[in-house]
Amino acid sequence: MKIITTCHEMQQTALAAKRSGQRIVFVPTMGYLHAGHASLLREGRTQGDLLVLSIFVNPIQFGANEDLGRYPRDIERDCQLARECGVDLVFLPDPAGMYPPGFQTSISVEKLSQPLCGASRPGHFDGVATVVTKLFNIVQPDVALFGKKDFQQLAVLRQMTSDLNLPVTIIGMPIVREQDGLAMSSRNAYLSAEQRESALVLSRAIKLVREQYQGGERSVAELQRAAESLITSTSSACIDYLEFRDSQTLQLVTTAGDTTLLALAVVIGTTRLIDNTVLGEEM
Ligand code: PAJ
Repeated sequence: MKIITTCHEMQQTALAAKRSGQRIVFVPTMGYLHAGHASLLREGRTQGDLLVLSIFVNPIQFGANEDLGRYPRDIERDCQLARECGVDLVFLPDPAGMYPPGFQTSISVEKLSQPLCGASRPGHFDGVATVVTKLFNIVQPDVALFGKKDFQQLAVLRQMTSDLNLPVTIIGMPIVREQDGLAMSSRNAYLSAEQRESALVLSRAIKLVREQYQGGERSVAELQRAAESLITSTSSACIDYLEFRDSQTLQLVTTAGDTTLLALAVVIGTTRLIDNTVLGEEM
């Protein structure tokens, strides 16, 4: 497994691979890898010839009061997992290489970036769209894989890829959960044992809503009331948002259907966790 740290060498390597007819598959991450990332890498391994993993904690997608400074890192362990998943090349740029002095360009996917995490984290999706555009230009992928754990991110990046005619096929992958239902996240590392237990309210709220939906309930007001009362009954949990939206347009809906997205962000202590489900799809 090769490790590359400069944008120039990565781009030259990718262009050479393409010239020799290789199909490049790309999984961008911020590291501290877990089974969710591994599922993207394992699927990616089947999708082409050169499997590239990037690990970059992208400063421009973090707000001023967010966790950039304490975001968990363990490159040794990440490289071990990458090897086990059959990664050919790890791209590990540094912030100065990605954003040299004078950097001033931003990509903004206007409408899809507004609600949900975009409302709670102003500028977040511009930071994501900008870094992913740069990474696509550096890594030159034919295929890129993203998780539905970050449902809105996937929607923003699909729209961006289409709007800008980027020659990349985007694959969305199911949410990988712990046995007890908690969606895997690098940020779960912040949770104490007690908070880890409280964090189960997110997936429990999702399960409750899915059960009520499967039982015939279609009123979003009713589903919302049930989910919110479950979460507010957990003392250390504070709802950032809990919304029912169309899974394609991300517009609010008042009647639930199979394509309705339930997306939620809940703060447990000081850790903000997100989760989601599309009511008509498997969990
Ligand atoms: P990161 O949070 O490291 O996630 C990298 C990829 O793994 C994303 O596509 C994310 O949706 C996916 N992922 C995370 N947890 C998952 C889970 N439990 N199940 C399935 N997939 C999961 O998302 C980012 O990094 C960054 O915003 C990035 C796209 C790399 C841009 O900086």
